[in-house]
Amino acid sequence: MSQELAKKAVKSLRFLGRDLVVFRGEDGSATILDAYCPHLGAHLGVGGKVIGNTIQCPFHGWRYDSKGECVSIPYCKKIPPRAHLQAWNVCEVNGHIFAYFDENGGDPSFDIPQLFENGAHWTNFVTRSWTINTTIEEASKSAMNIQLLEGASVDRTMHGVGVVHGASESGRIKSRIVMSMTPIDAKTVDLQIAVSTRKSWNPLINASVKRMMPSDVSKAFSLGTRRHLNVVA
Ligand code: FES
Repeated sequence: MSQELAKKAVKSLRFLGRDLVVFRGEDGSATILDAYCPHLGAHLGVGGKVIGNTIQCPFHGWRYDSKGECVSIPYCKKIPPRAHLQAWNVCEVNGHIFAYFDENGGDPSFDIPQLFENGAHWTNFVTRSWTINTTIEEASKSAMNIQLLEGASVDRTMHGVGVVHGASESGRIKSRIVMSMTPIDAKTVDLQIAVSTRKSWNPLINASVKRMMPSDVSKAFSLGTRRHLNVVA
């Protein structure tokens, strides 16, 4: 989520069977890189620091830019040719930071459109996430059917595999929903559901956003799919 990564923040991630690091530069842009420094293998997400729009390795201070190129070594003017990290194709839209994976390093063949207005009329996203024993294809199919609000009509759109946007209306509650499915490894998927509601003059309606999230995603998935998915965490 964009709101979870402040300027100059650094976080470790584990997706697609890899260790990754995400950071937000001083210009506000988010960058995702493979986590291990090509010098002696320090994890940049553990003690790495943002300097300008680069991340500095906590061990000997090599710095990497948003393309994964080493741009500075404190004790040396010459940058070794192999001093670079894989940089991930990142897109930040609708309150989320998305990374695109292509095993051949290709660019995405689709865009995730800006669907939601920004501004004071909507609450911050409330999010929940789960680790599920399934594949990204199965999780995406289930996300197209998941029922978050009893009796609500939900319009859904899938972008690529792994991202579903929805807009929902139930009585006076209007909400926008982003469901993201990201493989953690070959057997498990991280499912995140984020919901924001349009603010109302009525505090009871505003408070209802917290009640919108299902207490048991397995049950919610089952409602949509008639099948039980194994929630690991
Ligand atoms: S291990 Fe990163 S700079 Fe040495």
